[in-house]
Amino acid sequence: MKPVKSARLVCPVYTLDFKQLLPGGKEITPEVLDELIATTKGTSYPACPLLKYGTIFQDLRRFLQESPYNLSFDQSDRSGVLTLMNEISFIPPLLKFFDYFKENDFYTYRHSLVVFAMSVLMAQELLEEPEDWIRDVMAGTIHDFGKMNVPLKILKKKEPLTQVDKIILEHHALAGFVLLSYFLQDHGRFAAWAAKEHHERRDGSGYPLGILMRDRMIEIISVCDIYDALLSPRPHRPTPYDNRSALEEITEMAEQGKLSWEVVQALVAYNRKDRPHFQECKVSAEKRGRLLAVDLCRVNVERKIDCPNCHGTARERKIVRDGKQHLAYACRSCGMEFTEDDLLDMELDLN
Ligand SMILES: [Fe+2]
Ligand SMILES: [Fe+2]
Repeated sequence: MKPVKSARLVCPVYTLDFKQLLPGGKEITPEVLDELIATTKGTSYPACPLLKYGTIFQDLRRFLQESPYNLSFDQSDRSGVLTLMNEISFIPPLLKFFDYFKENDFYTYRHSLVVFAMSVLMAQELLEEPEDWIRDVMAGTIHDFGKMNVPLKILKKKEPLTQVDKIILEHHALAGFVLLSYFLQDHGRFAAWAAKEHHERRDGSGYPLGILMRDRMIEIISVCDIYDALLSPRPHRPTPYDNRSALEEITEMAEQGKLSWEVVQALVAYNRKDRPHFQECKVSAEKRGRLLAVDLCRVNVERKIDCPNCHGTARERKIVRDGKQHLAYACRSCGMEFTEDDLLDMELDLN
């Protein structure tokens, strides 16, 4: 069985006010989080309705009227989602996330709101108990909360990301878990877990831990996350996928066992004019042309990386070090084995 990675922070976690919550290298355990949360107990914040904050309402309504989301959201869907969203309030430290990204990285601002709306739309169809999705509904909006700990120069980089950039980018999942546990004063809150697990995959090929994704609501957020990432122009890939190619790519990931088949069926059904029920929606990954399969808009599709020694291709494998199993990479050309920690150490040595 594939070893699960440890929940160890590769970088420090800090708030937007530059308060360090945990240092890099710290293993995240329930005890560590309890101790951290204890430092903020007694702090209470007045909550503000999300839609009444800044220009969020007008912005989201506009995003949903743009192609291709206008296919999934007819006017009544849009009103339904916006009505539901109107019931959600966030505390100021969470709202600052929107201010920060609206000003510094508009893609992440828009992406967070659109993934929220799309995941609510699909949850209404896919989750059996409505109270499930009402309880979980805020999670989609702040699934990328930890991106506030990723330097903007990496988020907005036009050139391909280096391996170290990728490790720092992937840090956003655990950073989001720590930050949301801290601000919500509870590490069991669904929003914190969604931040941590939205890049995991059903077959264990995701990150940060390589666990098998099984929570239905997180699967929904994850599919909507990939869909929007494919559709969006990014600094390193100014031409986005068209809608059909994005759906084909996601369908292929479902065929490979990475994503929930039912959730992908629901996404495809929302893109069909006749709106079939998702269980009756026929889905095919047949492609009109081959697309780039690796590093799609920084969505982690396949874990293979450049060898720091010979620049050959290194793939994931298990290694044993100090009597313990670790997840590492092995280069197919020179045979070098290295972990993500080794890559970071090499980078630090160079500077
Ligand atoms: Fe993410
Ligand atoms: Fe995302």
